[in-house]
Amino acid sequence: MPIRLAQPDAAEKRPTAAFHGFAAAPGWAMIEVMLAIIWHSRTGAARALAEAAYAGAGDKAMLFPAEQARVEDLLQAQGYLFVCPENLGTMSGAMKEFFDRSYYPVLGRTAGRPYATIIAAGSDGHGAQAQLDRIVTGWRLRRVAEPMIVNLAAQTPEAILTPKRVPADALAAAGALGAALAEGIATGIF
Ligand SMILES: Cc1cc2nc3c(=O)[nH]c(=O)nc-3n(C[C@H](O)[C@H](O)[C@H](O)COP(=O)(O)O)c2cc1C
Repeated sequence: MPIRLAQPDAAEKRPTAAFHGFAAAPGWAMIEVMLAIIWHSRTGAARALAEAAYAGAGDKAMLFPAEQARVEDLLQAQGYLFVCPENLGTMSGAMKEFFDRSYYPVLGRTAGRPYATIIAAGSDGHGAQAQLDRIVTGWRLRRVAEPMIVNLAAQTPEAILTPKRVPADALAAAGALGAALAEGIATGIF
């Protein structure tokens, strides 16, 4: 799955880095965070995509489960990747709760910062995509990569509730997106 970036060159400059695990522990604020990857997942797809993006982004990125992401985490970061599933035509409830909790404390304090999104979906994904874009428009964030929707063809109740395996090409695309975002932020391209 190709990734089209606002700054196409950025993806080519960043080598893939190792996965360092989750990091939302107290005290992390001493670390310089360039890219905050905020995710929610119910059956594993968005989580796998967020982890792949993190692996691509390297040591200036951090992963934040939506339930744990704090206002300070958002303010400290220089850019954002939001990763979640579409549920019932919108972003998943836990991701929405993250925005509900953070929206007003963050409002007016992140203008111009870059962002991108990855939506895990069963058959659509555009509802979650549009909703997320609308919310972060209020924060005056700037989209710097094409929306990425990973459709896993889960349409029956059984398929929807099954733990997901994300195809390798989608994971590779998420990794490339993470790499490009981290590089673009670190070098000031974004
Ligand atoms: C309650 C529920 C509602 C869903 N609604 C939608 C939907 O409206 N549109 C869609 O494309 N997929 C829908 N799906 C499918 C998920 O988006 C899809 O399985 C996705 O890959 C799940 O990501 P996750 O594994 O990170 O939770 C729904 C799944 C659940 C559990």
